[in-house]
Amino acid sequence: ESNPADSNNLRVKLVLLGDSGVGKSCIVLRFVRGQFDPTSKVTVGASFLSQTLALQDSTTVKFEIWDTAGQERYAALAPLYYRGAGAAIVVYDITSPESFNKAQYWVKELQKHGNPDIVMALVGNKADLHENRSVSSQDAQEYAEKNGMFFIETSAKTADNINQLFEVFWAFHS
Ligand code: GTP
Ligand code: MG
Repeated sequence: ESNPADSNNLRVKLVLLGDSGVGKSCIVLRFVRGQFDPTSKVTVGASFLSQTLALQDSTTVKFEIWDTAGQERYAALAPLYYRGAGAAIVVYDITSPESFNKAQYWVKELQKHGNPDIVMALVGNKADLHENRSVSSQDAQEYAEKNGMFFIETSAKTADNINQLFEVFWAFHS
């Protein structure tokens, strides 16, 4: 490396996939701006945001984030965003078994057509709605382990585990 400082400044292309309404855009908004939008609009096509995370050892990670649209009509666009991605966050809603099925569909698609070295996280969002939980943490954890994925439950609403989710990718890219 010509500039030693570069080794402390990592860049990761990251894609978010998952059913419409699971909270992908809210997770990104929480991470990038520290905000929550209860009236969040469905994403059209995809949206791009970037955010740099500073870690303890003066390393920084710049996330180039593609937040995809979960509505079925946009499914064919997904390869444009996950191709070349070093990391993927596959999101479901802990109150929706259908969204957990859809997450498994995306994991298979990434395994078939994504970058073979892609680092994947399985995220159960809306953890604040635990009274309506219908996907157990154990089932999701087991599925994630079988597929070599990191698993975490988050709430974009309360900010629970949002930074932790992004911090974990550093470990895989150092
Ligand atoms: P598409 O863009 O259509 O793929 O949907 P999305 O996955 O981006 O969903 P979005 O982030 O727009 O959130 C959908 C709805 O869920 C919005 O009404 C949000 O306010 C709500 N929501 C998102 N995250 C949470 C959360 O952690 N807890 C709760 N209670 N609601 C959430
Ligand atoms: Mg969205």
